[in-house]
Amino acid sequence: MDRRTLIAGNWKMNKTPAETESYIKSFMKLLHNDSRIEVLLLPPFTGLERAGKLLSETTIALGGQDLHFETGGAFTGEISSEMLKACGCSYVLVGHSERRALFEEGDRLINRKLHAALAAGLHPILCVGETLEEHRQGQVEERITSQLGADLAQIKAAEASLVVIAYEPIWAIGTGETATPMGAQGTIHVIREWIAAAYDQNVAETMRILYGGSVKPENAASLLHQPDIDGALVGGASLFPDSFAQIVAASH
Ligand code: PGA
Repeated sequence: MDRRTLIAGNWKMNKTPAETESYIKSFMKLLHNDSRIEVLLLPPFTGLERAGKLLSETTIALGGQDLHFETGGAFTGEISSEMLKACGCSYVLVGHSERRALFEEGDRLINRKLHAALAAGLHPILCVGETLEEHRQGQVEERITSQLGADLAQIKAAEASLVVIAYEPIWAIGTGETATPMGAQGTIHVIREWIAAAYDQNVAETMRILYGGSVKPENAASLLHQPDIDGALVGGASLFPDSFAQIVAASH
């Protein structure tokens, strides 16, 4: 099964709208179009509108870093799926480990957000991953499959193929530590088998599963060439047009 590679840049809480514009202009010059690779930028909410205008005539996709599960109303500080779509987003991150750890997002909330994203026609990128403690105790599989079960509750097979999963071991995020290509491949293979059992073989073979956690130009190729790794969710190294373009190039 041919799954299209997805290389996503999660800028987190970085870049003003003006910085977003200058990044995109530089990045466009460095990128070589290849229809087998989809490139996605995830700026903060305040940069989305400007990014959407600049990217509208390009093949680069745009996404939000989070969303609220309601479509509108009295939810101070929140952003809806409709607002993301109006800016040109086709993707949204759901359940990033920083949302889980720093903002106390639990699986129930993440499940509601996934349903909301799918109802709006957005591709959710569901992030899962274990802590260092769980990693050391050999609880990776248990942790990941419990997150998947709770987060994907009541999501039907037809919708599940639209979900992208990002396996991001928490101990590898922003630390410079990266899972080994074999280690990441092993866990992502477990995720794909879990999807096959929970849904069916077709969903498992269609669904894209990314690796995230200190992906850099130097380690991207060895991770991306693993058979079950369909792309990367990149944080720190996506903040610079040249390093992000090098990661995209490494996936060819
Ligand atoms: P990192 O972040 O590449 O800086 O480790 C990845 C992420 O949090 O998505």
